[in-house]
Amino acid sequence: MQRRSFIRIAGGGVVAAATLATASLTGCSADMPNAAIEAWQGPGADLAAAGDPRRWLLSYAILAPHSHNLQSWIVDLGTPGEITLSCDAKRLLPQTDPLSRQIMMSHGTFLEMLDLAARERGLRADITLFPEGAFGPDKIDARPVARIRLTPDAAVAKDPLFGQILRRRTARSVYDLNRPVPAVAWAAMADAVKPNTLRFGYAGLEQAPALAMQRNIAAEAWRIELTTPRTIMESFEVLRVGQAEVAQHRDGLTLLDPMVVTLNRLGLFDRSKAPAPDDYATTSQIRDFAAKLASTTGFLWMVTQTNDRVAQVNAGRAYARVQLAAMGQGLSMHPLSQALQEYPEQAKPYREIHSLVDATQPGQTVQMWARVGYASAVSPAPRRRLADFIRA
Ligand SMILES: Cc1cc2nc3c(=O)[nH]c(=O)nc-3n(C[C@H](O)[C@H](O)[C@H](O)COP(=O)(O)O)c2cc1C
Repeated sequence: MQRRSFIRIAGGGVVAAATLATASLTGCSADMPNAAIEAWQGPGADLAAAGDPRRWLLSYAILAPHSHNLQSWIVDLGTPGEITLSCDAKRLLPQTDPLSRQIMMSHGTFLEMLDLAARERGLRADITLFPEGAFGPDKIDARPVARIRLTPDAAVAKDPLFGQILRRRTARSVYDLNRPVPAVAWAAMADAVKPNTLRFGYAGLEQAPALAMQRNIAAEAWRIELTTPRTIMESFEVLRVGQAEVAQHRDGLTLLDPMVVTLNRLGLFDRSKAPAPDDYATTSQIRDFAAKLASTTGFLWMVTQTNDRVAQVNAGRAYARVQLAAMGQGLSMHPLSQALQEYPEQAKPYREIHSLVDATQPGQTVQMWARVGYASAVSPAPRRRLADFIRA
């Protein structure tokens, strides 16, 4: 179906948006360059044997989920026994994430992986968020996001979620509508949130009206993102099409569909301008996304009482734990950030999802909204080399 769509639109000359919803949706592509996903083998024996455990820990931290797979993490190892985490200001999403809220969450996911790895090594990770002061609500700056002090501590408990880190994937495929998310799996996810204080909620097949409303809001938010030129262009900028681009960048949204790769090679895949709302390229993607939503048997959400930077980072930590717990239950997960984004065109879906999950008091913020279900295995997403994240 996907392939036929591409052939039909190739003559029309516009294929760009038709590919976007499948971006990163590489299935288990044999075309994925091995080097781009080598990080998923975990740290090698050399790092395990090294006297300084920090690179071993970081090998797990860089496997954290990050919005658009931007990997905006910079670490400083200048002080022995410490890791200082900062944000790479060149790896932001000013159009779709104008307040850098998702970027901060993506630093929380990194910290959670780091903490799980530290526990595995019998280390206590004392994490001080924003040691030189937190960023304001609109902008981030060069000050560190976190300082992590590592200390051997026999009292530190290992966490079984560590065992899911190498297996974790974001799965954007159609899910199995015949397999609802069981109560025991929801309980495992809710349990994983702790010790975070955010509110975790979910709706399964038995809440049919809520499920229908969530599908509608997500679909409309997706349509808005696809048809707002500056937001779709932001995704195009981090789209990596074909083996060469994926191997070169090892970040962003991966697209390895052979037909698109061929069109790209022939110069028929135009990423320089946004397609029109009524282009087949756009409408087919709206349809595809609706099919994914229709196959979804469960949605989850995470609500914080405030929306300061600490709350955002901690929400990222909670999301990482919930996704790992879901993996442990054999489930797949796919965040639906569009309606949570703070650009003006999304104001209506933003209001609707906040209202639906009862987060309308000042400060209350839906930090994460995701679909959950059973899906076939997908390829891991690329990661840059560990050395690329280390500044000193
Ligand atoms: C805060 C945050 C928001 C995200 N929002 C979306 C989203 O709206 N749609 C999506 O497909 N993936 C979303 N993701 C998943 C990332 O795209 C994904 O983590 C990244 O591509 C790397 O893939 P991986 O999770 O399989 O390692 C989000 C991740 C984070 C941490």
